[in-house]
Amino acid sequence: MSTTSMHGMWSSRLAFIFAATGSAVGLGNIWRFPYTAGEYGGGAFVLIYLACVAAIGVPIMIAEVMLGRRGRQSPINTMRALAEQQGVSPLWQLLGWMGILSGFLILSFYSVIAGWTMGYVFRAGSGQFAGIDGAGSEAIFGALTADPERLLAWHTIFMVLVVMVVARGVASGLERAVRLLMPALFLLLVVMVLYASQAGDFAAGVSYLFTPDFSELQANAGEAILSAMGQAFFSLSLGMGAIMIYGSYLSSHASIGANAAIIAGMDTLVAVLAGLAIFPIVFANGLEPGAGPGLIFQTLPVAFGQMPFGAFFGALFFMLLVFAAWTSAISLLEPMVAYLVENRGFSRVRASLLAGVTVWALGIACLLSLNEWSGFTIFGKGILDLFDYLTANILLPLGGIFIAIFAGWVLDQQVTRDELGASNGARLYRVWRGLIRWFAPLCVILVFFNAVGLI
Ligand code: PFF
Repeated sequence: MSTTSMHGMWSSRLAFIFAATGSAVGLGNIWRFPYTAGEYGGGAFVLIYLACVAAIGVPIMIAEVMLGRRGRQSPINTMRALAEQQGVSPLWQLLGWMGILSGFLILSFYSVIAGWTMGYVFRAGSGQFAGIDGAGSEAIFGALTADPERLLAWHTIFMVLVVMVVARGVASGLERAVRLLMPALFLLLVVMVLYASQAGDFAAGVSYLFTPDFSELQANAGEAILSAMGQAFFSLSLGMGAIMIYGSYLSSHASIGANAAIIAGMDTLVAVLAGLAIFPIVFANGLEPGAGPGLIFQTLPVAFGQMPFGAFFGALFFMLLVFAAWTSAISLLEPMVAYLVENRGFSRVRASLLAGVTVWALGIACLLSLNEWSGFTIFGKGILDLFDYLTANILLPLGGIFIAIFAGWVLDQQVTRDELGASNGARLYRVWRGLIRWFAPLCVILVFFNAVGLI
């Protein structure tokens, strides 16, 4: 059965791959992956992360695209319609609502970090990093985060850019932008890894990332595993409906399994390259791998400050990172905008403005938590850190469990077979079904229980 989305369809088969890769590749790969890996000691965390991407992330991505393509509406309405077709409770639409909440929370801090990145385009381009050492670079970063007005200005500019695209409809322009910018970002990362292999302590960086030392984890193994899994969800844009809504614009003929594998592969490659570009610099300059969310902003300027044409490469790198963040941010706003258009009869422009202003206001709380409100903490975390932790480690995996259960247990098996184009008994299909019914939901639940000390 082939159906068409009420919001239109991607212009080509490749458009979905590009848009979904644009959603997946972003600050999560280049900012978040290195700093969380650094906080949990490297190798063991990276190994668990890779395992989560392959065994939980890819199957859930397949399920999420499938639900989207089957429903052809915003995640809330898709879940409501599919639940009705299957004769189960309409409460399944709560999955869509939870996704909207996650989208709000993620975008509110994501935009602030994208703002740092924009600020760094100019700091790099004006030559401020020339000859800088670790302390100098930390001082520049500290001055930026201590300045709420600057943060607000960048956060506002970024949100305006996001709203502008979403208001016009995500299909137009997104494919072209990603087609051009992703390869550029990728190439530049390769150049930076080559530089790190010459000027940095490459051996230390590689061994840090790829030699799993599980004794590093012992003290807080539960936390580390939870964070590695959360990073996989965050980086692949899973568990909140972003990939579901992109799937809802996907043609009925495209192969979901192959697409998911390609997207996850590219996403992982970018994260690993980012790690390889950063950690050799960290070790060569006596910096701290566990420096936290400021990690790339404190280490990369040291590298750009030393390399030939560093001002140019630095500005280019941060600019491409802004673009990567932009294409991710668009997918964070899209599910709620589609909902407002479908259910409230809003025009896309009005819906995007309303959603954008709400996120923007929430973002102000995030950026103030870095300075004026730094004394205010919940569970020992400021607002920005709390939103980051809560969404990646709890809300997205929780959304993932429900997606897995719905696709594995509720949806007719024949529907999943048709969607995946699986002939009877195809081996890959059976692997997917085993992972989605048992492995993925059980793993996420065990990791949750383990992290709170129940097992
Ligand atoms: N995957 C994006 C990144 O790695 O930067 C962030 C993201 C986008 C998370 C969309 C979740 C989402 F739904």
